[in-house]
Amino acid sequence: MNVCKDIDCVKNFVKSQKQSLKTIGYVPTMGYLHEGHISLVRAAKSACDNVIVSIFVNPKQFGPKEDYSRYPRDLKRDLELLEKEKVDMVFTPDIETMYPKGFSTTINIGPLANVLEGAFRPGHFDGVCTVVTKLFNIVSPDKAFFGEKDYQQLKIVEKLVKDLNFDIEIIPIPTKREEDGLAMSSRNTYLNKEERKRAGTIYKFLLKAKEIFESGIKDSDKIIEQAKEVLDVDSIDYIKIVDKDTLEEKKVASKYDRILIAVKIGNTRLIDNIEI
Ligand code: PAJ
Repeated sequence: MNVCKDIDCVKNFVKSQKQSLKTIGYVPTMGYLHEGHISLVRAAKSACDNVIVSIFVNPKQFGPKEDYSRYPRDLKRDLELLEKEKVDMVFTPDIETMYPKGFSTTINIGPLANVLEGAFRPGHFDGVCTVVTKLFNIVSPDKAFFGEKDYQQLKIVEKLVKDLNFDIEIIPIPTKREEDGLAMSSRNTYLNKEERKRAGTIYKFLLKAKEIFESGIKDSDKIIEQAKEVLDVDSIDYIKIVDKDTLEEKKVASKYDRILIAVKIGNTRLIDNIEI
């Protein structure tokens, strides 16, 4: 497994693989890998000749009061996990490599970046779009794999690729969950034992909402109000039933809509979603 810190190192590898007509699958991550990330890597392995994973905690997508400096990091363990998965290359750039002195471009994809997560984390998706654009230009993969766990991010990246004519196929991968249904996330490590237990009610809430919808209740407010009975969190940033593509809020829910939730338990902010 090659580990590259420099952009040219990645570009040279990609060039040589493309010359021999090999396809490139790409999994961008911020590291501290778990089974969710690994499911993206496995999907990439089975769909492409080569798999490149990047590990970069992108400062531009964290707000000033967010957890950039305490975001969990363990490069040694990450590399061991990726070696086991027979990944071909890992790109681990420094901040100065990604954002050298004088860097000033921002990618803003418009209204989709301002709702839901974007409303609570101003600038977050500009940071995501800027780094993903750079990473796509560096890796130039045939296919890139993104988790449905971050549903709005997935939809935004799909739009970015369409709007900017990237020749990259975006492959969505279902959310990997712990035994009690909690979506796997690097941020789950912030939870203490009591908080971790309550975090399991987020998925219970989502399933309950789906059950209520399937029982015939279509009014979104009613679905959410009734399902909230099972939710045990400290505060709710948003719970919304939205169109699966436009992410526009639906007052009356219909099949294939998505229910998205963001909550706080203690100091930890968690997000999740399912198809209703
Ligand atoms: P990160 O949070 O490390 O996630 C990397 C990828 O793994 C994302 O596509 C995310 O949706 C996916 N993922 C996370 N948890 C998952 C789970 N439980 N099941 C399935 N997939 C899961 O998302 C980012 O990093 C960054 O914003 C990034 C795209 C790398 C840009 O900096």
